Amino acid sequence: MNLPRTVSWVDGKLVLVDQRRLPDELAFIECDSVESVADAIKSMAVRGAPAIGVAAAFGLAIAAKSGKIEEVRKAADILKSTRPTAINLFWAIERVMRAVESSDDIARAAEEEAIRIMEEDIETNRRIGEIGSSLIEDGMRIMTICNAGSLATVYYGTALAPVYVAWEKGKKLEVIALETRPVLQGARITAFELIHAGIPVKLIVDGAAGYVMKNIGVDLVLVGADRILSDGTVYNKIGTYNLAVLAKRHKVPFYSVAPTSTFDLRSRREDVRIEQRPADEVTKIRGIKIAPEGVDVINPAFDETPPDLLTGIITEKGIIRRPFRRSIKKILGH
Ligand code: MRU
Repeated sequence: MNLPRTVSWVDGKLVLVDQRRLPDELAFIECDSVESVADAIKSMAVRGAPAIGVAAAFGLAIAAKSGKIEEVRKAADILKSTRPTAINLFWAIERVMRAVESSDDIARAAEEEAIRIMEEDIETNRRIGEIGSSLIEDGMRIMTICNAGSLATVYYGTALAPVYVAWEKGKKLEVIALETRPVLQGARITAFELIHAGIPVKLIVDGAAGYVMKNIGVDLVLVGADRILSDGTVYNKIGTYNLAVLAKRHKVPFYSVAPTSTFDLRSRREDVRIEQRPADEVTKIRGIKIAPEGVDVINPAFDETPPDLLTGIITEKGIIRRPFRRSIKKILGH
């Protein structure tokens, strides 16, 4: 794999792969204000739960250069209002805020903590890859939705980390990527990064997942997560729930793959806000109108997969299996 890091910190500025421009070009944007970081997250220049968490951490590091704690608190509120579902965003902001609130040198404390979160992300994902690759046998066909790859994190990814590690170990495999409407992270980003890594990938429309499971065969489904509750309920890209139902029907093992920072042990299902995105993501494809003017739209960015549809959850601390509530408690040490 020779992709650049999705998020980096260069001379006090946040540098991001601009994912809005993929797959046409691998371009970068620089953010040197809290507003530009918030805008990058909102507009999905940077996306994927771990990557937005790291980006927000650096947004606070930028605010902390002022040396004023009120500025950092204000920045935290701005960054928290960007996207509501991925818990990693709130987790990373809380971590930096804790470091800042207990330091006399807030600029240094924020920068150091943000760098730590970034470096930990790479190590965690590598570990997830090692653990998850034990499930991948030679010749497997693996289905995934959205992009939970390197470009959704700082490096390696979550759902794609086991694929990268298995491939590195010489296992033959093929990935089936769902295009993932409305904003096509599967087509634009997953297909791009797997081709970049030289890993065989076939792209399908979301509606073809059942056909492929039934007629071609899928050995394993690996998806990411934006938030996982204490009972194992998984919030991930819209369409994940459909895929989990199909996997159960076709007896295909279905795993969510996520770092332990994606777990939210405090919230109940009714507390989780599913982000609703603009209608024109549905009525247009990359700016081209595909629906009649004025049609009403429902555009949830994420859905909820109940734990009874999961085979397990792959984390950097091991694979969580049933009974989920007890195993989650044990692995997270709570
Ligand atoms: O809307 P996005 O592109 O940010 O959604 C991304 C996903 O749903 C991913 O599966 C999830 O964030 C995990 S990324 C490692």
